[in-house]
Amino acid sequence: MPKPKIEKKITPLFTAPKGMQDILGEEEHYWRDLQRVVEKEAQSFNFKKIVSPILEDIGLFQRATGETTDIVEKEMFELTTKGGRSLALRPEFTPSVIRAYLENGLYAQPLPVKLYSLGPVFRYAQPQAGRKRQFHQFNFEIIGDKAPVLDAQLISLFWEILKKLKLKNLNIQINSIGCGQCRPAYERVLKDYYQRNLSKLCPDCRRRLKKNPLRLLDCKEDKCRLLANNAPQIVDHLCEECHDHFKDVLEFLDELELPYILNPSLARGLDYYTKTVFEVWPQEKDERQISLGGGGRYDLLVKLLGGRDTAAVGFAGGIERIIDLMKVQKVEPAKVAPPQVYLAQLGETAKKRALKLFKTLIDAKIKVAENFSKDSLKSQLRTANRLGVRISLILGQKEVLEETIIIRDMTTGVQEVVDIKKIVGEVKKRLRR
Ligand code: HAM
Repeated sequence: MPKPKIEKKITPLFTAPKGMQDILGEEEHYWRDLQRVVEKEAQSFNFKKIVSPILEDIGLFQRATGETTDIVEKEMFELTTKGGRSLALRPEFTPSVIRAYLENGLYAQPLPVKLYSLGPVFRYAQPQAGRKRQFHQFNFEIIGDKAPVLDAQLISLFWEILKKLKLKNLNIQINSIGCGQCRPAYERVLKDYYQRNLSKLCPDCRRRLKKNPLRLLDCKEDKCRLLANNAPQIVDHLCEECHDHFKDVLEFLDELELPYILNPSLARGLDYYTKTVFEVWPQEKDERQISLGGGGRYDLLVKLLGGRDTAAVGFAGGIERIIDLMKVQKVEPAKVAPPQVYLAQLGETAKKRALKLFKTLIDAKIKVAENFSKDSLKSQLRTANRLGVRISLILGQKEVLEETIIIRDMTTGVQEVVDIKKIVGEVKKRLRR
């Protein structure tokens, strides 16, 4: 047995920024699987992809996500361009999608417009389990329709993605936070309630109470959670339209047999929501109630960003959190099929010919491994053995001149010389056996 080489660990000069990570090795299978499922479901539900810039005008998030949200108050990665323009790394997709919808005149298309995105988002918060500074979301938006069936359909799409990833023991938390008609009155009732309990609130909530009382409902501090449990509930204060909308959404969810839990404390930390809000939680959640994703209706945002009165609804899934749960639940991601064939070459002329042959084989959908930078046949065949391929193809000077190639069965070691022009058919025939 050759002695394993012990590599001396290098201390790198640079490391990734705090709260940001490289994705490689084993982790990559999870990402590939998740992306495959998201793309497939997006197609099944007829969504079109939108790729927007990672940087946006900072004013977009201030206006859309909301000045009093944690995201805008404390968590934005901001920069000033050489031209003096203030930009921010996107902390979420929704404002960018609506900006793009308006800027590109997508409202002229038949409504609703259904768009999805997938990529990195950035929030400058203290990193901890389930909270990163760069993380990734898949994000779905339906713009231009107020029908409650769409809220339910989006929830079912999110659910479908999580089921396809084989996640178990999840539940849907759902609430309605009303609209411009009914919410102000509820906020007054809520303010009164919290005012009476001011001394029991955490400092953050005491500060938020004036501007955004709804946010107090989903504060994660123990003493605030206790208060939220006994707070007046918005469902008792919804206007008729919001009440009917919520009832319809729940009926559609019943029809789809989706396991939802009415959660009167669910307010979500973003300013644009109206009516339905929801999150998906794992049942084995810890006290911090880590949500795998969430969303809701936002019927006022398009107008707020300069468009016409346009209802919309959407959600985003948190990719890192979903992958973490796949690991906790020991879900094996679909592995990439290993190579079936190894292509070995010997000598300069053979290397050139092999380069072309490699392309012929992959075009024929045969999974081929190679090491074109290696010159020794022995070491190439050793790699082929390690990869566990069924067949190796060997191309030397002689074979190139004779327009042939050697096929080696890696189990029996038997070798045959065949016409190189017939190689695709010959390989496929052997792989079928
Ligand atoms: P959000 O709840 O802020 O919603 O984020 C969605 C998901 O992103 C969360 O449920 C969580 O899984 C993940 N997430 C959030 N922050 C972090 C973090 N620091 N580290 C790791 N994962 C995180 C939105 O972003 C809305 N734009 C969703 C939406 C779309 N609403 C309507 N349309």
